[in-house]
Amino acid sequence: MNFSRRLAWGVPENRLAAAERELRARGRSLCDLTVSNPTLAGLPYPADAIAAAFAEPAMAHYHPTPRGLPTARAAVAADYARRGASVDSGRIFLTASSSESYALLFKLLGDPGQAVLVPEPSYPLFDYLARLEGLEARPYRLAYDGLWHIDFPSLDFVGAAAVVVVSPNNPTGSYLGADDGQRLAALAAQTGVAVIADEVFADFPIAPAADAVTAIAARPGPALTFSLGGLSKASGLPQMKLGWIAASGPDVLVEPALANLELVADTYLSAGTPVQLALPRLLEIGAEIRRSIHHRVLRNRCALAERIGANSPCTLLPAEAGWSAILRVPETVSDEEWALRLLRDSSVLVQPGYFFDLRLGATLVVSLLPPPADFDHGVACLLAGLPNG
Ligand SMILES: Cc1ncc(COP(=O)(O)O)c(C=O)c1O
Repeated sequence: MNFSRRLAWGVPENRLAAAERELRARGRSLCDLTVSNPTLAGLPYPADAIAAAFAEPAMAHYHPTPRGLPTARAAVAADYARRGASVDSGRIFLTASSSESYALLFKLLGDPGQAVLVPEPSYPLFDYLARLEGLEARPYRLAYDGLWHIDFPSLDFVGAAAVVVVSPNNPTGSYLGADDGQRLAALAAQTGVAVIADEVFADFPIAPAADAVTAIAARPGPALTFSLGGLSKASGLPQMKLGWIAASGPDVLVEPALANLELVADTYLSAGTPVQLALPRLLEIGAEIRRSIHHRVLRNRCALAERIGANSPCTLLPAEAGWSAILRVPETVSDEEWALRLLRDSSVLVQPGYFFDLRLGATLVVSLLPPPADFDHGVACLLAGLPNG
């Protein structure tokens, strides 16, 4: 059987996943500091209210709408307004998730063989998302000097179809700074390349820098820009499968882009009617879920900072936002080796920085989502597993 060459199929599982599988098969109980699914983090979810949001007789009928139902798009525009951002619902498209938003935009913008410029370090799905559209994910670096900045010389626009910014970024928790944002938008506009701004963590600030760029969708610059958001993070409801794209930029670029994106979206019509009808209510319910996630993340980060203290062998990197913390650990061994040792010897599961292309010596990435008791226990095990912990 011939399969496409879009992906490298059958890649063996990494050493950490294999070690975790083996330990679990032997009945070892692990403290998981990699939880990224908010619905499995012991947070309160109002199950009855969520179910009631779907009690919509209108869902018995199907009215295919490539951009998404007007009531649902108006609810997304109202949600932007909650964040102080004025976004026209006529420039919003609904999708099944942020990952799907990327896929639709890559189809709109890129021809097979072209590149999409993606930040490094960042969320590790870009390579797959690009390859599945016949594109190449071409990294550009983010440099760290206490804050994260775009390393502009590493941006290569030749043959590029789009440039992706993730603000706040995962796992660095860094926002796009105002100067970087302006410079990037100017370069994108000059080269005719669209900007895709992933803002799915925008609702989880920790300590934003003074010049952090928020709500990119409401700050039209010179480049065609698509901002991404969704229920998955903002409302802690990934199972609903609903994301959105908000287009901004000069009208002369935005109008044809919307018309063409409509054709792409019309081919799939992937956002389900029930979730679209439930969306206004889910966004209300999501506000409460978002608050409990935010509270959890801030609480765990504080506990982590206190626990690490001054004489610890590891340091906690500052973060402006997000659900993760980055720990710098001694460089005596690689981050993969640290993660394997912590798993085998201390029964604590963390992600090595190289999963995210972090290149700051040896780093470990810890989720701030676990229930406080589990989190504190995991952190205690982690620190005990490091030299002089
Ligand atoms: C930065 C970033 N963007 C997008 C996503 C995917 O979101 P969705 O569940 O809406 O596909 C993730 C998931 O972790 C993420 O970290």
